[in-house]
Amino acid sequence: MCGIVGYIGPRQAVTVLMQGLKQLEYRGYDSSGVSILNSGSIKTFKKIGKLHNLESIVPESSKAKSGIGHTRWATHGKVTDVNAHPHTNKSGKISLVHNGIIDNYVILKEELEAKGYEFISETDSEVLVHLIDSYLKDDPKEAVRKALKRVDGTYGIAVLFSDYPDQLIGARNGSPLIVGVGEGEMFLGSDATAFVGMSKQAIYLDDGDMVVLTSKSYKTYNRHNAEVEKELEDVKIDSTETKKGEFPHFFLKEIHEQPEAIRRAIVGRLLPEFGTAKLGGLNLEKRDFFDIKRIHIIAMGSAYYAGMVAANTIETLARIPAQVFDASELRYSNPIVDKETLFLAVSQSGETADTILAVKEIQNKGGIVLGVVNSVGSTLARLTHGGMYIHAGQEVSVASTKAFSNQITVMTLFALVLGRMKDVPLSRGKELIEQISTLPEKVEETLKCASQIEEIANKYKNSQSLLFLARGINYPIALEGALKVKEVSYLHAEGFSAGGLKHGPLALVCPETPSVFIITEGEYFEKMIGNIQEVKARNGKAIIVTTSNDKRLIDLADEYVKIPEIDEILSPLLTIIPMQFFSYYISLALGRDIDQPRNLAKSVTTE
Ligand code: G6P
Repeated sequence: MCGIVGYIGPRQAVTVLMQGLKQLEYRGYDSSGVSILNSGSIKTFKKIGKLHNLESIVPESSKAKSGIGHTRWATHGKVTDVNAHPHTNKSGKISLVHNGIIDNYVILKEELEAKGYEFISETDSEVLVHLIDSYLKDDPKEAVRKALKRVDGTYGIAVLFSDYPDQLIGARNGSPLIVGVGEGEMFLGSDATAFVGMSKQAIYLDDGDMVVLTSKSYKTYNRHNAEVEKELEDVKIDSTETKKGEFPHFFLKEIHEQPEAIRRAIVGRLLPEFGTAKLGGLNLEKRDFFDIKRIHIIAMGSAYYAGMVAANTIETLARIPAQVFDASELRYSNPIVDKETLFLAVSQSGETADTILAVKEIQNKGGIVLGVVNSVGSTLARLTHGGMYIHAGQEVSVASTKAFSNQITVMTLFALVLGRMKDVPLSRGKELIEQISTLPEKVEETLKCASQIEEIANKYKNSQSLLFLARGINYPIALEGALKVKEVSYLHAEGFSAGGLKHGPLALVCPETPSVFIITEGEYFEKMIGNIQEVKARNGKAIIVTTSNDKRLIDLADEYVKIPEIDEILSPLLTIIPMQFFSYYISLALGRDIDQPRNLAKSVTTE
């Protein structure tokens, strides 16, 4: 996997493909390549490392009017030029890029080798190009269709044939592929970002679909090979969102975008008079919720931690048992599905394979799943019964910031809706709505801690390891804080419940391993003070992030970061800000590749 772009039309293909690949860079990758088709022959260029390596070998100008490009995030086979996509057949007449995983590639490879096909890469993807070759007679679409019928696994592919220069073929199954429909030109993309700014309209392929593009037309076919009409949709991504503007990194830009992003998540959804919210896309009647006895949240990565916060909020406000599940585990755990359980699938991209497959498993068992998704029109958004868009705007940095906050914001509204149907009285509902409406300003105010956190990060950048400790609703923020540091700075960091400290992690405490404490003025305040003392008594350093002015904290702290006061239930939306800045500035000080950390991808479309 990672990013696919394809083009056929009047423009210089190489320029379009390179621009598309640049726009897909945010997904994270370790190598890239393009194939361009000119005068009946395909030329392929591929290189490991960043796109400028590829840029240095592709022709600056070429007459090619069609081509395909790919950014690779290695799954099968090391990061080498040969393993990078596109892959070509022996005659060089077919070239292909692939996202996904071909589960039965070993069998197919043996079969093809027995027929005399030679493999030069270690990838599973290469079998596809030889398989298509083995079926090619006089109709490229038929060859692709027959080849794909043999495949077990997931794919989003784009295929170029030198003998059929006026065609570009795409197909998807479990890995997204979108067609950009321009005027007299067509694009393919693993997401619409690939052609944003170049095409204003798109069609979203469904699993099992194939598309045959010419510069002026597109024909789509379903898995039964029947031609199907697809709805033409507007590309909703704002191209300014894919630019850094005044910020040196998308990560920093997106941290600063949080007040605005939260504003977008709540606008039009608050009902102050009734102390509740309205969520239009759930596709369920309020009365359906009376039957819900438990809520299971499914997610991966940062979305999982946002789900943990939401589970806490749902239990607190609605008194409905709520639990979060690692989607990759849930899928194979023979999950218990019944009428009384409501499932929420949380995903920024809406393309995370682990989450999608878990959702399909639950749906196959008759369960109802609602999506909490950022990317409009994504696979998950279309697969779920209904849901809530989080409206964070496009998130480009691999490590999530504003999407995480908006997932929490929107699920808090959901919890409030359920809560108001149960025990939460009107007065408390009104109070919460009032506090939620001030969130954008409070987050804005919290952003002012940036320079203080920069100083702290510079001071602790050589730490051996970092511990993040909190309780209650901020416990998931400790986990997310540690994840942010790990992902972007590559320093070792772990989050723990502060209560769990003495049950093991305390052994790690020493002057070189500082502890970050998140403390709000609620239920856990006194207990947290006790935990800080445990660390201080063992010569550990305490970095304290708090809503409180309590003198004891100031005395105990090696570093004391004061953030605005807020209802504890909303506090994760403020406490996360110093965590994000800490991760940013420590990574900056260490010279890391902040927007595209090594080994990571933004949208993980393979299991
Ligand atoms: C990847 C990203 C994480 C993200 C996770 C889930 O691992 O690097 O930042 O939290 O996927 O992504 P999703 O798009 O489903 O929220």
